[in-house]
This record gives sequence, structure tokens and C-alpha cells, in this order.
Amino acid sequence: MINYTSMKPYLLLFMSLALLGCKQEVSKNSDEQETEVVEERFRESYRPQYHFTPPEKWMNDPNGLLYHNGTYHLFYQYYPEDIVWGPMHWGHATSADMISWEHKPIALYPDELGLIFSGSAVMDTKNTSGLGTPENPPMVAIFTYHLMAGEKAGSKDFQTQGIAYSLDEGDTWTKYEGNPVIGNEGIKDFRDPKVLWHEASQKWIMALVAGDHVKFYNSPNLKEWNLVSEFGKNQGAHGGVWECPDLFPLLVAGRDETKWVLLVSMNPGAPNGGSGTQYFVGNFDGTQFTTNQKSPKWLDYGMDNYAGVTYNGLPDDQRTFIGWMSNWNYARDTPTEVWRSAMTLPRKLTLAKNNKDYYLKNYPLKAIDEYSYATVTHDTMKHNMSLSSASFNKMRLDFEIPGKLDDFTLNFTNVEKNSLKVGYKKADNTFFVDRRKSGKVAFEPSFGAAMHTAPAIEKTLTNTKFSIFMDESSIEFFVNQGETVLTDQIFPDTPFTAMTFTSNGQTIAPLKVSKVKRIWD
Ligand code: FRU
Repeated sequence: MINYTSMKPYLLLFMSLALLGCKQEVSKNSDEQETEVVEERFRESYRPQYHFTPPEKWMNDPNGLLYHNGTYHLFYQYYPEDIVWGPMHWGHATSADMISWEHKPIALYPDELGLIFSGSAVMDTKNTSGLGTPENPPMVAIFTYHLMAGEKAGSKDFQTQGIAYSLDEGDTWTKYEGNPVIGNEGIKDFRDPKVLWHEASQKWIMALVAGDHVKFYNSPNLKEWNLVSEFGKNQGAHGGVWECPDLFPLLVAGRDETKWVLLVSMNPGAPNGGSGTQYFVGNFDGTQFTTNQKSPKWLDYGMDNYAGVTYNGLPDDQRTFIGWMSNWNYARDTPTEVWRSAMTLPRKLTLAKNNKDYYLKNYPLKAIDEYSYATVTHDTMKHNMSLSSASFNKMRLDFEIPGKLDDFTLNFTNVEKNSLKVGYKKADNTFFVDRRKSGKVAFEPSFGAAMHTAPAIEKTLTNTKFSIFMDESSIEFFVNQGETVLTDQIFPDTPFTAMTFTSNGQTIAPLKVSKVKRIWD
């Protein structure tokens, strides 16, 4: 949980989004001693090259994920004055494929009702709010106001919900004059509205967290909201405060069945420490969410996938998720200077059922395949074999281990003898990412304290498929197209240049190593 009280008082400053780049002096012709300045945007050390990062300064949660008129909008928690958390704005970026992004001016600034915390965005196509016209319906953002003065004064009603609208595709925004649309009767943690259109009841539904549970509201017009039910006081994991809920229907793969999924981020209390995202699979009748689920389920077992939510405005069979690739344990301490934090790759969510239960898979969108190139296929890779590369930190690896899965490790190393290990341990039936010796880890105690493990979905795994996406300072490890996932930040002293495979007699067949195109050119 962030200590909001320890923040500096805020000054409303307008910021020009001058994109910060590294300038590299290149000698054009050594005889003439002539030099030319080449703009190398976003080449700072550790800057991801195919994941979204803000142009500069601090970013946390993705907000207002909305697809409209061929454009994917990504808003995000943003503090334009510093590389640590501060008074929150909504930053904005747009994309045609959710991989390459264009940075846009800041969308929402704090005002007298407070800072702009997390929330969602919808297209009010029928102009139910009356904030636009039938010909030009409004894009509406629904967010939490966080009033610092109230928090400092020790009151408990400093988080309320507000809305703002845009009539020009998200370029400029007007706050609704009747804000807040939901006041607060004394709930300290009362935030992160996720709104969706519920076709069956012809109403807007809002999922909002209140400390240890989710409250559901409905509304005919996005302005007046009625509390209709609550969920979760006695369900799921409760090691920390509930944040950033999301509710959506999803078809169960291979079955004629639709279930409702409720995502709830929680900090602290995640399986490998700090912040993490749990989910519930159940039903939603327009009013109440119900589930038979007995124990918590986690979307991602790495330490660095938090506050993730899904896109509004996509067809029902496309449920796309983006998470914040960090953890409140150390988000402020990671060794970057110009900007801080990245988003996960956009991931397709699918719901599957085995003989025991439902589970949610999350795996990068096919769009990333368009960015993969120079693929080298190794038909087999046996125990103790190594590969070398100029940098494994800009690569994706896709491989299969035929037969029954047994212990294996991929060990990425560099000249500094940093080591990042990824693999499977049969005795515990767990996958792991071990970043304990991966380079810079000492900036915060929990970062390199333990290896991160994730239970396999099945007792025995056969012909298992894996994908690893590494991008300068992150690794995303996927088993069987997202059945088990670990996302972790890494800060090696220099890029990893060797990879050694060790196993209990097993062979990889095949292994594909691809480069991934940089998105900022
Ligand atoms: C989650 C969170 C949200 C809050 C936002 C503030 O990371 O704590 O609950 O709205 O960040 O920046």
C-alpha cells in the first residue's frame, strides 16, 4: 500500500510533453572532426524496447483501457514531476495494435476534489449521460478522486468517484460539474471503479473496491449510481487491501458455457510477496456476483504484474489484459532514472476448465508475432548445451519439451556472472523464475529475497510448451500459452549473452529464438 500521506504538497503545474531522449554524439567524418547529434529516443539503460513505458517520470496502474474507432486507448496513473509516486494524473497513449504506442498529452489533471486515481473508460454510445449528443456520443472516464487534505486531516471519506468526458476521441477532457457521482460515507479505501455496459439489464455496472470487498453499483446514465450488492468479505485472499477490480463475461474454451470473471488486485499478500492479482470465476446476474470457488486463484505468480485490468469496447471473444509491471514493495526503488515502470505485454485472457476447476489463461496477443523476426530454430537442445547471443534481453524464446516434464533449468548469464534461472521442479510440481543473482537486486530487500514459484495446473505435464519474452529489464515466462505465468523485473549489470539448458535427461525440441522489433522508431 502506498503511503499517500507522506507526499509533498501538490502544485498544479502544466507540463509540456517534450519527449525525452538520449542524445548520442556520432562522429560523421573523423578527418573533418564533424559531429552530428542523433536522436536516440528511449535508449536509456533498462528502458524496455517493446513494452509500453511513459516518455519520462513515474507511472503505475493502467487506467481507462478502451477500444474505439480502431484505436486502443491506454490511460495510466502518472506523476509528471518525479520518478516516484506523487499527485496522480491520467497519462494517455494510443495504439493501433497495443504493441506500438503514441504518447499523448496528459488527459486528466488533479482538481479541487482531489488527485485522479485509477478507474476505467467507456463509450457512452447511446448518450445515456447526456454529456454528448446522439451524433457525437461521449467517451466517459470514471475514476477515483483522492483528496489529500482529507486524508491528512485523518478523515475516512477522502476517496470519492468522479467522471469526465471527451467529445474528441479522448484528446481533451471535461470534468462533470456534478462530481463526485459517488460520495463516501466513511470507507478509507474506496476506489478504482471499473464500469461495463450490461446488455441484459440495459444498465451500467460498476465494480468498486472497499477495503476488503467489492461493491457493485448500477446506473442508467453514469451519473446516478445505486449500490446493488457486495462480494468478497469471506472469499479469496485477504492479506492486503483490495484494489483495481474488473468484472467481465468469458466463454469457457471448448464448451458452450459463459462464466463471469472478477479480477481483484491485492497489496500486500501476493503468493511471492507484495502486490498480486487474484481472480474469481462465477456468475453475475446483473446485480450479484456469486462463486463456488473455495481457494484463491492467481493470474500471475511473478512479483511484477499488478493492478491489471481489461479493455472495454472489444467484441466478447476478445478479452485483453494489461498489467503494471511492478510491485509496491519496491516500485519506487528500481534502478531507472528518466522514467519508472513499464506495462506488461497486452495479453489475451481465456477461460479453461480441467476435470477439477476453471482457470484463467493469459498469453501475449498475436500482434507481438508481427514484431518477432530473425528467428533461428534449433531442432534439439540437449542437457548441458549452451547458446550465445549479443543480448538475450531483447528476445523471445519459444520451445517445447516433449514427453513427461521433469526438472529443467534455463540459466541466462553474462560476463558479470549475473545469472537468471527459469525452469521447473518436479518434486514440487512448480515452475520458477530465480532472479536472486540476476544483477542489481539490493535496492530493496524483497526484490532478490527468494525465487518465485508457481504451481502447475496439472499433476503431470506432457509435451509442454513455453514462451519467454525478455525486454531489457523484464522477463515474462508462459507455460502452455498462459496456463501458468511468471512476470518479473530484472536489472542485470550487462545484457545476458549466454543461455545454458540443464535437465534430467530431457531435450528441448524445437527451440525458436527470435529478435523482437523496437517500438519507438
Ligand atoms: C493500485 C493503486 C490504486 C490507486 C492507485 C493510486 O496500484 O494503489 O488502488 O487508485 O494505485 O495511484
